[in-house]
Order: sequence, then C-alpha cells, then structure tokens
Amino acid sequence: IALGGTRMPIQFSTARRAPARAEVVAHGLTTEVLAGDGPLPAGLDRGDLGRLGFTAKVEQVQVVPAEGRLVVAVGLGPADGVDPDGLRRASACLARAVRGRRSLALDLASVTDAVPRPEAARAVVEGTALALYRFGYKSTKDEDRLSRVTLVGSTAAGVRTAVEQATAVVEGVKLARDLVNEPGGSLTPPKFANRVRRMARDRGLTVKVLDEAAIKRARLGGLLGVSRGSTQPPRFVELTWTPKGRPKGTIALVGKGLTFDSGGLSIKSGVGMMDMKMDMGGAAAVVGAMSVLPVLAPRCRVRAYLPMTDNMLGGDATRPGDVLTIRNGKTIEVLNTDAEGRLVLADALSMASEAKPDAIVDLATLTGACMVALGPRIAGLMGRDDGFLAQVEGASARTGERVWRLPLPADYRRMVDSPVADMKNIGGPHGGAITAGLILGEFVADGIPWAHLDIAGPAFADGDDCEVTRGGTGFGVRLLVDLACSFTPGG
Ligand code: BES
Ligand code: ZN
Ligand code: ZN
Repeated sequence: IALGGTRMPIQFSTARRAPARAEVVAHGLTTEVLAGDGPLPAGLDRGDLGRLGFTAKVEQVQVVPAEGRLVVAVGLGPADGVDPDGLRRASACLARAVRGRRSLALDLASVTDAVPRPEAARAVVEGTALALYRFGYKSTKDEDRLSRVTLVGSTAAGVRTAVEQATAVVEGVKLARDLVNEPGGSLTPPKFANRVRRMARDRGLTVKVLDEAAIKRARLGGLLGVSRGSTQPPRFVELTWTPKGRPKGTIALVGKGLTFDSGGLSIKSGVGMMDMKMDMGGAAAVVGAMSVLPVLAPRCRVRAYLPMTDNMLGGDATRPGDVLTIRNGKTIEVLNTDAEGRLVLADALSMASEAKPDAIVDLATLTGACMVALGPRIAGLMGRDDGFLAQVEGASARTGERVWRLPLPADYRRMVDSPVADMKNIGGPHGGAITAGLILGEFVADGIPWAHLDIAGPAFADGDDCEVTRGGTGFGVRLLVDLACSFTPGG
C-alpha cells in the first residue's frame, strides 16, 4: 500500500574509480582544496565554480555538465571540521540534486583524513538513501530514478562491511518511517501488530501478540483504560532477538504505540491533532531497530515491548477522574486523558521489568513540553544509572541522533501526588517532560538501569531537511541499533 515501502532500495557498491557509465560523478571539496592551487577533479574548474558562487560550504552542491555526464562539486566545509554528520548532510543534498538520474559515483571523503573510511561510507549511505525516501498516496508517479550508487575510493573489507550494515540500518529506518506515515485510520492497532508479526517471521525474530482478552488477563490497566474510548481493540506485542551462544546481557526496548492520539475526552484542538498518527513513533523506531538486528547480530539479547492502541472518545471512554490500576499494582488517577502515553508505557515498563533485563530503554512521543524545551531535532534523555545513560549518549554521538539530558529530581515527584491514587497522570503547568519521566520511573523496577527518550520533537518533521524527509523520521532506529551492538551490561 505504501509508496515508501514498495520502492526498490538503492544498490550501493564500492570501487577504486568511478565507473565509466555513471551518469553523475560527484566530488567532495573542502574549502582548503577549493581555495588551494592543486588540480581539481576532472570536469571541475575553479574559475567556473567561483563564478557560480560555490564556496564549498556544507549543504552546497554545484552541478556542472561535462562530456556526456554531470559532474558535481559537493561542499564539505573546512577540512578539520569534516565529520560523519557533515558527510551525511552533504550526501543528502547531493542525492536530492541528482535524484532524477539513474546512477551516481561519488567520492566525498578522500579529500580529508578527518573521518575513518568505514564511518564515512556509513554516513554517505545513510544520507543518500534516507534523503530519497518518499511516502505517499499520490496518483501521479514521482520522477526519482537513482538506483545505483558507487562509493569511490577505498574498497577495503571494512568499508564494504560498513556499506552493507548501513544499507540494512537504512531499511530499518525506512520501515519505521513507513509505519509512522501510515494514517491512523489504516494502521489500526490490530493492523500494526499484524505488520510487526509479519516482519518478525520474515526476519526470524520471536514474536508474541496479546489480543484484548490476553491484555485483560495480563491486567494491563493502563492500556485498557486508554483503549476504552475506541472501537479498535488494543494489542500488546513482544519481540525477541536471541543471539547465538551465551547472550552478553539483555536489553529491553519499550515503544509508545498510539496509532492515533485525539486526546480522548480531554480532546486536542484541530491543529494539535493533525499529525497525531505519529504518536506511535516510539514503537515504530523499536520495530525498525528490531528488524535490523538479525543482520547485525549483536551479542546481547534484545526484547521489545510494544503497547498499541488509539486514544479516542467513544461513549465509554475513560473519564477524567477515573483511576486505573497498572500491571505492577500501582494506581493512577487520570485527570487529563491526553496524557495517555505514560498510562500505556506504565504497563509496558512493568512487563519489561518482570523479565529482569540488564537495562531498559523506552522511546515515546510523550510531551509537547519536551518539544518546547529542545526543539524539533533533539530528544530528551532521562533515566536512572549514569553508566547506562552514558552508553545511550555514546550511541547518540556515533549515529548523529541527538539527545540531551533532563533531570528527574526526586522533590518534583510531589507534583504528581494524587489525593485518591498513588499518583495522578499530570503535573503542574511547568516541567511537563520531567513530570512525565518521573511517572514512568514509578514502573521501572528498582535497580534496573533505565533510559527514557522523549522523541515528541524528532519523530516527525514538518519538511525536508538533509537526510530527514517530511513526516515520520525513523528517529531512534540508528541509535537503538548502535546501542544494542555496543551494549555492556553494568557498564
Ligand atoms: N502525544 C502527545 C505528545 C505530543 C505532542 C507528541 C505534540 C508530539 C507532538 C501526548 O500524548 C500528549 O498529548 N501530551 C500532553 C500531556 C499533557 C496533557 C500533560 C502534552 O504534551 O500536551
Ligand atoms: Zn496525548
Ligand atoms: Zn500521545
């Protein structure tokens, strides 16, 4: 059904030199190379580039026609500032500029030694493939042709492996984007669960789907409370990646899977509801990451817990003032039905805790407050256990998916005190990302290292921006895959 899901993936390969038949040949130029007096790659002329206003800034791309093909100058900025982020952005801009051509040979990184070749290759594959992602139900065909990309320079085994792994990760990101972009009316909780089950069977992951009756038997009171206003039944999906040999620890991934968030009886405004098909961006990122694990085969075990429901306002919807009992026995007074993510995550974190993993990470499009604090491209990172949070920050730094720490101060806990239940589901007018994090922390068993990523901002984009395309971004897939591959229990 989804355009984004049916397009053939771009084929990436490595070569010493550009294939003669490549329709486009692109060269990375640093400001030093452009300003120097050494020879430029064939087809590029310093005088012409200067007259065209090309200064080799990152995101600057200049296309020049030459001998039956196109030659492209790609700005990389100052040599000492070249990093994987810049290469990812540069290749994304390049890909957008030449998306109508079939084949591209590019040599972005060999003008500098600032980035190891495998890392450079990974960034280039991500930038190129993710920038050209599309999703839509338009009846007219798009004009994209690019199907073969050759990375020119090193063909070393490390580079080839990096290309293969990055290609797999990109497919995971695209899966997450497809899931987020699918409208709430077509990706209902049962359909979401079925799609995840199909993916899991294809990839050889273990999958278990709880239907409504099983969710009742499991006493997932938060998930049931949220789903009560909907004609669609909820689902709770568990996925497991089991490595060969003795696992190097277990990590649990939890993702908020609200297929649509109307706010419930505490209904959102029309504008506030417009993009709320994206409220399963946390679950989508977890699914995308899980889909990649059989390819990268990390040595730790990874378990995923995905509560799926929509938040509607049917005649029997949860009413403000209702009290829900979560799986672990704690009670929550629901004063605002739009603060529903924490209710379903409470059950999922309790479930995850029962299996006693070495660490838990949850991803959730949880609060508008976090978007206010950190803007559209940076996730809020909260949790317990500095060592584990540092591992998450490491994965963030290596993948370019940015996070920023927010505190979980113990004295703020009283902001969610309730006169009738263990807690209420909203805090005061201020610190909304933090009070949400504090509520989640009540459902993570003591002693388990835990990281909470509030991805309300970065899960969805208003427009294209380098490797990010409008709509679902797949934020979190790269970070989670890196974290699974680098995870050290107790580290
Ligand atoms: N899904 C929303 C958070 C959200 C808002 C994500 C905007 C992405 C963009 C969440 O369920 C919600 O509505 N949170 C409320 C909580 C409040 C009622 C305490 C919010 O942030 O306004
Ligand atoms: Zn909500
Ligand atoms: Zn929500």
